[in-house]
Amino acid sequence: MLQATVTAGPSLVETAARQPLLSVDKVTLRYKTPSLLVTATEAVSFDVCQSDRFVLLGPSGCGKSTLLKAVGGYMKPAAGTITINGRQVSKPGPDRMMVFQEFDQLMPWKTVLQNVMFPLLAARKLSQKEAEEIARSYIEKVKLTRALDSFPHTLSGGMKQRVAIARGMAMQPDILLMDEPFAALDALTRRQMQDELLQLWEDTKFTVIFVTHSIAEAIKISNRILLLSPHPGRVKAEVINADAASTEDGSAAALEKEIHNLLFSEPGHRE
Ligand SMILES: Nc1ncnc2c1ncn2[C@@H]1O[C@H](COP(=O)(O)OP(=O)(O)OP(=O)(O)O)[C@@H](O)[C@H]1O
Ligand SMILES: [Mg+2]
Repeated sequence: MLQATVTAGPSLVETAARQPLLSVDKVTLRYKTPSLLVTATEAVSFDVCQSDRFVLLGPSGCGKSTLLKAVGGYMKPAAGTITINGRQVSKPGPDRMMVFQEFDQLMPWKTVLQNVMFPLLAARKLSQKEAEEIARSYIEKVKLTRALDSFPHTLSGGMKQRVAIARGMAMQPDILLMDEPFAALDALTRRQMQDELLQLWEDTKFTVIFVTHSIAEAIKISNRILLLSPHPGRVKAEVINADAASTEDGSAAALEKEIHNLLFSEPGHRE
């Protein structure tokens, strides 16, 4: 197994010194169907620290969504452990909120405001007024105040994803889990949403695990990138991306090439 650590800037020591918020330790994840046993990931380990923009990057079928489901507590590892704040993850909880790729993750019979308020009312002991106040502030952060009373079917794909992000962030989870949240958007909207996510991060410094199979998106969003090999997913390398989104001196292009080579190198080519 290739276990390279590629650094794209000077922050390696700084990152290594921080305490992990989430630890994924030698996690193997399997699906049992009546006819076969599918191993989705094999002994995957990584740590996520406070305020990391941690990207899981790898080809289709390498187990990115499965890993996110396990961190979310929707799936138990066949081997290995997942701990958050030192406690083993065994079920879903409000400390981990998910944002999915699909536009239909909102409740169609509820307005934008009601969608964002829903988990706040369900999971936290808040009054209607308190929940509304928090929901409104996060809807404002994703620039959707004018659509407060709109129903999901009247919104564009990008607007729906903003609502899903506001709903996740309003819960102030320890970690926001995002599974290819911008993959179904057109290229321009996708770029705009990436910029907005980074602005939101500047604002609140939340911790996020972001799944993508776009190398360019991974470089733009992340401070750290875990590269996974094809099915079953194993850790190929970790990239510390200190110069996130820097394109002026061509460093993003160089990093993109390096990541491409790492992702598609055969085991044993680079030790
Ligand atoms: N419910 C399931 N039952 C059986 N096998 C599954 C199930 N869900 C996923 N798998 C298998 O597990 C492996 C990992 O799937 P997963 O969806 O995690 O990949 P992924 O990296 O998210 O891919 P993509 O980039 O296409 O979303 C694949 O081989 C897939 O076929
Ligand atoms: Mg997936």
